[in-house]
Amino acid sequence: MPNNKYAFFNGEIVPIEQARVSVMTNALNYGTGCFEGIRAYWNPDEEQLFVFQLRPHMERLLRSCRILMMQIPHSADDLCQITVDLLRAEGFREDVYIRPLVYKSDETIAVRLNGLADAFTMFAVGFGQYIDAGALRVCVSSWRRIDDNIIPSRAKASGSYLNSALAKTEALLNGYDEAIVLGADGQVSEASAANLFLVRNGALVTPPITSDVLEGITRQVVADLARDRLGLPLVERPIDRTELYVADEAFFCGTGVEIKPIVEVDRRPVGAGAPGPIASQLVDLYADVVRGRSPEHRAWCTPVYER
Ligand SMILES: Cc1ncc(COP(=O)(O)O)c(C=O)c1O
Repeated sequence: MPNNKYAFFNGEIVPIEQARVSVMTNALNYGTGCFEGIRAYWNPDEEQLFVFQLRPHMERLLRSCRILMMQIPHSADDLCQITVDLLRAEGFREDVYIRPLVYKSDETIAVRLNGLADAFTMFAVGFGQYIDAGALRVCVSSWRRIDDNIIPSRAKASGSYLNSALAKTEALLNGYDEAIVLGADGQVSEASAANLFLVRNGALVTPPITSDVLEGITRQVVADLARDRLGLPLVERPIDRTELYVADEAFFCGTGVEIKPIVEVDRRPVGAGAPGPIASQLVDLYADVVRGRSPEHRAWCTPVYER
């Protein structure tokens, strides 16, 4: 059960019971919304809650709004402050998932983006692991990733998550932990809600942002940590399906999934069939960074409580 007490709704923090919309809301009917998924991590030694990469997430939300012709009366700085205010009101002393959402709020039958009212809401819930398994067995989905000329992947659009849900459901019902989705061109795109990296011949490889992927915040964090801490260059290039079968290592990254090694793709072991050394190092590094335990990455962590 969610353990949150409040939401930001209609311009103020209100009890969660008051944050309600009509069944006629345009976004509920047509998926006309965009959102973010942000995590905050509790650091018990400092008795502090750190929001990870808060501003980059809010900047991406505003970019999604531009693509979807949505307007809200809040700047990125406002959105960061609202987040801190909401988390302080909740008083969380645990890891948290934060969900800002912009949506077409008019209660009309209208399939369009222009000329409709927009609304902004945010809630946050206590949240542990998104996927419990420490290492993942995955399949290539029979569903293709939506492309930029269908529903833009770089907008984190509510409606596009039907594509993610189809792929994830198929994977789960077939006994896998997660799906890898190919683009319309047959090249590897990403997972249902995470970006994908391979290690091949000592290099880190990931599809470019033109491969119908979400421009992941964690994707950039992984690129920075791999370069600065592991001395690994990042190669952004199209990836063939069968490269998944011959990679030395593979892993997903995303706010929800964090960094998760992949040990099997389509019933073929990845590398030795166990988490590889590079993925394992990144998992450990990431765990320190997000809790504010890496001095050089403190700027990525926004403290919630005044100390
Ligand atoms: C489709 C998709 N790709 C990638 C990601 C990873 O993005 P981020 O690292 O910004 O959370 C997500 C995150 O939720 C996602 O939904």
